[in-house]
Amino acid sequence: MKKTIRNLFLVVIAVAAAACGRPSRPSTIGTTPEVERRVDRLLAQMTLAEKIGQMNQVSAGGAVSNYAESVRSGQVGSILNEVDPVRINEFQRIAVEESRLGIPLLVGRDVIHGFHTVFPIPLGLAASFDPALVEEGARIAALEATAQGVRWTFSPMLDIARDPRWGRIAEGSGEDTWLDARMGEAMVRGYQGTQWDTTAMAACIKHFVGYGAAEGGRDYNSTFLTERQLRNIYLPPFEAAVKAGALTLMTSFNDNDGVPSTGNKFVVKDILRGEWGFDGLVVTDWNSMGEMISHGYGADRREVALQAVRAGVDMDMMTFGFISHLEELVHSGAVREADIDAAVRNILRVKVLLGLFEHPYVDVAAAGAVQYAPEHLDAARRTAEESAVLLKNDGVLPLDASRVRTILVTGPLADAPHDQLGTWAFDGQKEHTVTPLAALRERFPGRVVYVPGLENSRQKRERFDDVVAAARRADVVLAFLGEEAILSGEAHSLADLNLKGSQSELLAALKAAGKPVVATVMAGRPLTIERDLPNCGALLYAFHPGTMGGPALANLIFGDVVPSGKTPVSFLRTVGQAPLYYNHNMTGRPYQGEMLLDDIGPEAGQTSLGNTSYYLDYGAYPLFPFGYGLSYTSFAYSDLALDKASYARDGVVRASFTLSNTGSREGTEVVQAYVRDLVGSITRPVKELKHFERVSLKPGESRQLTVEIPVADLAFWGADGTKKVEPGDFQLWIAGDSASGEPVSFRVE
Ligand code: NOJ
Repeated sequence: MKKTIRNLFLVVIAVAAAACGRPSRPSTIGTTPEVERRVDRLLAQMTLAEKIGQMNQVSAGGAVSNYAESVRSGQVGSILNEVDPVRINEFQRIAVEESRLGIPLLVGRDVIHGFHTVFPIPLGLAASFDPALVEEGARIAALEATAQGVRWTFSPMLDIARDPRWGRIAEGSGEDTWLDARMGEAMVRGYQGTQWDTTAMAACIKHFVGYGAAEGGRDYNSTFLTERQLRNIYLPPFEAAVKAGALTLMTSFNDNDGVPSTGNKFVVKDILRGEWGFDGLVVTDWNSMGEMISHGYGADRREVALQAVRAGVDMDMMTFGFISHLEELVHSGAVREADIDAAVRNILRVKVLLGLFEHPYVDVAAAGAVQYAPEHLDAARRTAEESAVLLKNDGVLPLDASRVRTILVTGPLADAPHDQLGTWAFDGQKEHTVTPLAALRERFPGRVVYVPGLENSRQKRERFDDVVAAARRADVVLAFLGEEAILSGEAHSLADLNLKGSQSELLAALKAAGKPVVATVMAGRPLTIERDLPNCGALLYAFHPGTMGGPALANLIFGDVVPSGKTPVSFLRTVGQAPLYYNHNMTGRPYQGEMLLDDIGPEAGQTSLGNTSYYLDYGAYPLFPFGYGLSYTSFAYSDLALDKASYARDGVVRASFTLSNTGSREGTEVVQAYVRDLVGSITRPVKELKHFERVSLKPGESRQLTVEIPVADLAFWGADGTKKVEPGDFQLWIAGDSASGEPVSFRVE
């Protein structure tokens, strides 16, 4: 009885709070009663048309006069794709000084991996396993973008990507939920900063949700994720970023199990708002409301506008569905004005928190000074250094500059200032890019011979006589291969992941010249490079490394910096293995390394090869597992032990171990801790990353380290549809990648 009265009391409070439009729970975005009062005061003065105007976002590149009247009459709440500070000020002047209520515009832009100073693509950022560095980069992006008036970025992209055919794998943190969550939090903190000053840039976590699971890796394709997969794999990074205070969120293009995200009340209203208490702004993706018509989910713009607003969307990016139909939908009774008010509150709350009312304008004279600031370029270089992954080294690297006189630089990515910036680098100017060729020429005047071999990554060529002749005369060959920027990113999926054009043939020809060959691959995804590995002595993989990629790679190749990146995604042997990711389920017939077709040859006739879960021709393993990457030194793990044999569900697993630098160079290891839950109410992944950290050691140094994993982090959504830690037996690995190490066991009671 007592309980019932208490519940009733809570309901009354929640209803009362909801009735005055105030969040009944702690704000996820840090609003205050004062902010809420301000929002309420403003809302009380707004006409229905003005409210709906706030819910309308318009792409506004070009002449301000084209949009002036809409802004003046309060029909636009936000613009995107305008970065000129003079024009942004003009837009704001019209909004603030000429519209009835003077509400400033929220100016958005895709600032995805840097603004002018371009950092490595997000997949590269993730390869650093260094959230602090990623946060620093996001802060720099915010400093540069906000100086020009951009106060909202459509980043970070938190889509888990288990299929490298999907071009947008470049824009996220790869295949792992834990890593993705840590990177997302870091970017949110970096963009938004620690205080609401004029350098705060609202983050937009996207694409909500499941977009990365596009069937066949084909962008925009449907997804078929179960609620449990969503909750265990795809939603946690979003929840983490909401907890980190992300101000905004974007719904995705895809339909999951038949429901397009922009009309998906279950994920937006029930989970995001209801379960997580998100009180920030929800925007659609570009025309994703309109695309619900193509999906066959709504008959016309009026219907999809209704579906979107009912799902809990606050702002329409470029469908013009709200601005055209919401007023009538309210008058007809299909939509309650209270729902419009709730959406507008979410928008105004963000504008108030960002301080746009106090500081709508930017200082145009000062805007240029922060762009490409030396400390920004320095951070971009350090990030590119930490992001590169050394995948092969038979001892060629690092090069000793005193022993190589003539250096042949070749390959289509050696001097491709636009392409090394990667996808979504709208504002990075290629004139500021330092390519490997430029960096090497500066470092070794007169010693670099440049013969590109291929003009671009897709060119086909029969013979490479000129390159081979140059290779014979050189002491070392540096081949820069990969993908042009245009081959990854949105709408740029691929069905073939080999190096394109005649790049593999170029590498093979270089190998035949007999000189040491160092291959560097710059790409937007993990390409299938198995056939290229025998043709180089070392292979450095740099996901498009950005403005300072050239100096970073030169520093790595010549040993000023020791590689420390680890791959955030499995490298496949062949595209037919996709999707192949480390944290798959065990299956009833786990692969045990059975023979492959090539092992036995055709003479074996009808011989049965094996009956486990694998491909007869390619087995079940990737070329390089998640978390893999070499160094110029070597690391050994020993003495792994736990502080207890068994833990309570509110306990903390403490694993101690010794990490030794067994080589002759100082280096940094990305220590990774993986856990397996042996028996669950549903089948569980073979391993899941639960902790990582970067540890630097001097040559010969050993250090005793302790990793702490709260037992609560082992919770998952099980058979009964709730999230909890299930008692039982677990295993824990601490290793340098997802396929190494010996586990220790523990129990959770
Ligand atoms: C479409 C993309 O899917 C999204 O990520 C981006 O932020 C918007 N366009 C705006 O450019």
